[in-house]
Amino acid sequence: AVGLKTSWLGRQLYYYDEVGSTNQVAKELADNGAPEGTVVVAEAQSGGRGRRGRLWLSPPQKGIWFSLIFRPRVAPTQASQLTLLAAVAVAAAVRKYTGLPPGIKWPNDILLGGRKVCGILTEIKAEMDAVEYIVQGIGLNVNAEADDFTPDVRPYATSLFLELGRRVARLPLFQEMLYQLEKWYERWQEEGFEPVRRAWKEASVTLGREVAVNSWREVTTGVAVDIDAEGALKVRTAGGEVRRFTSGEVTLRPV
Ligand code: BTN
Repeated sequence: AVGLKTSWLGRQLYYYDEVGSTNQVAKELADNGAPEGTVVVAEAQSGGRGRRGRLWLSPPQKGIWFSLIFRPRVAPTQASQLTLLAAVAVAAAVRKYTGLPPGIKWPNDILLGGRKVCGILTEIKAEMDAVEYIVQGIGLNVNAEADDFTPDVRPYATSLFLELGRRVARLPLFQEMLYQLEKWYERWQEEGFEPVRRAWKEASVTLGREVAVNSWREVTTGVAVDIDAEGALKVRTAGGEVRRFTSGEVTLRPV
């Protein structure tokens, strides 16, 4: 019914008019054994969640709100690679479908014109040294107008509609996102992280910039110099020391 271009991703697809959070639904399905490639999508979320416990506004028909279940056979430390992978795949779909040039802010915010158009929330369930499943929630602002954002995020948020000046059909774009996610996931399994890392660096708006990284209640400022083989962000501080971050929130300093 959805006209998928994928071979396994989204072949098990749960569609809702409204749920609290597609990540929550996906985690419950995964806990009950849902297979890799299961997708949960909703027209609206009443309790959409962002990173760091924030709220993610998800009004009906204004965006693409969905979650994916993956069961990669990797160590928990490698799971953050999937976070970067999702950003690469979504950025590719947005670029292909709109012609706009998306930029990725570490680890996986997708920006257009310096404003956030898409956020990704990765949740991992690990048992000892093995990943049991990873749920990735992706929220793309498609036809949201300025009024759809709360005043506090309005200056930093955008949508495809606001960037293009016209409404965008969501279904073909959703199909393209799933297609790119499947393609990049298979590539990651076959070739490892390096191709993802290269594509991430190409789309990055973080590397080479002055950044402030907020991690573990500490703020580090410096120049973002690289993404390492595990997906960690490396920042050179004014003192010349290079620090490595596997999680945190990046603020780009104005250029
Ligand atoms: C962020 O940038 O803070 C992450 C935002 C993630 C939003 C998506 S929308 C679909 C999925 N369900 C949720 O509750 N959150 C994610």
